[in-house]
Amino acid sequence: MLVLGIESSCDETACAIVSDKREILASVVWSQYDEHRRFGGVVPEIAARAHLEKCDLLVAEALSQSGKTFADLSAIAVAGGPGLIGGVLVGVMTAKAIALAHNLPFVAVNHLEGHALTVRLSHPVAFPYLLLLTSGGHCQILIVKGVGQYEKLGATIDDSAGEAFDKVAKMLDIGYPGGPNLEKRAGQGNPNQFTFPVPMKGRPGCDFSFSGLKTSVRTCIEKNAPLSEQDKSDICASFQTAVVKQMADRLQHAIAIARDKCPDIKDLVVAGGVAANQSVRAMIQHIADTHNLTFSAPPIGLCTDNGVMIAWAGLERFRQGLTDTLDFRARPRWPLDTLAKPLTD
Ligand code: KG4
Ligand code: ZN
Repeated sequence: MLVLGIESSCDETACAIVSDKREILASVVWSQYDEHRRFGGVVPEIAARAHLEKCDLLVAEALSQSGKTFADLSAIAVAGGPGLIGGVLVGVMTAKAIALAHNLPFVAVNHLEGHALTVRLSHPVAFPYLLLLTSGGHCQILIVKGVGQYEKLGATIDDSAGEAFDKVAKMLDIGYPGGPNLEKRAGQGNPNQFTFPVPMKGRPGCDFSFSGLKTSVRTCIEKNAPLSEQDKSDICASFQTAVVKQMADRLQHAIAIARDKCPDIKDLVVAGGVAANQSVRAMIQHIADTHNLTFSAPPIGLCTDNGVMIAWAGLERFRQGLTDTLDFRARPRWPLDTLAKPLTD
């Protein structure tokens, strides 16, 4: 079984082909960093046009990398949302055209489900598992009970963690994309130089909040201006530590809640762009160890947006008979915990 997946919901155009033997036959990612860099963030209109320019070329490149043709494929999967609608439409229309022209089944994948299931391609993780999904658009903790079966335990009440990384990087003018640059600078800084608040710490439940942390970083920048390069690195390290502390606190609560609901949970998984962060991974590994859970995360290259995650989630859906019709409508919003219910527009 071979599934081709297309991703175009934010600022990466990507295409990949995976097999049911958990092989990646092709993976191409075109990051639009250069298009968005001078704006310090993703501009939706520019993103949509860039996806349009690249999407069909990446599909051709993935086929050539794999040595396969459309005739070898079992299904076409695409991120059908949530995301920037212009970009999602480009991917969805490309996938529909291929499905129609080559008479292939069409699978619309929720982008978040792509992040949520990728770990099952790289690691032997069985359902149910506890997942911290932390990306540019989302920060939530879920019990993954099966394909399309998600129970949300908590989520951010304001910004996502990725957004906080990006905004702080922008305030410090350390370049775009924010997350990876901030992590690099944090490595050169002293995490104890500044003390930032850890919002939500100790509160019941497992919701997140990052906007107060962002504000206190802004205040600190203003108070200490002009900043030396070392100040900037110290702020990065102190900010990253505050994020990690909040995640640790929220995960401890989530583990207790999840064990109550699903006593057979054995795995703790982190996914999404922020899961590429080594301090985040190290903290979750530690929490998993202390709670007798197995920690797993996709390889770093499959944490940020890519085509493999869509192809893999498409394959997981396809092998359960979960295909979609060509009248599927791209969805700018599409909460993961509504997947099991019939879609209503
Ligand atoms: O999953 P993703 O590629 O796109 C969304 O679905 O949103 O996540 C992108 C987010 C960005 O906010 C980016 O700054 C963050 O993930 N990110 C990181 C790192 N790499 C990417 N944040 C912290 N540390 C990193 N190494
Ligand atoms: Zn993503």
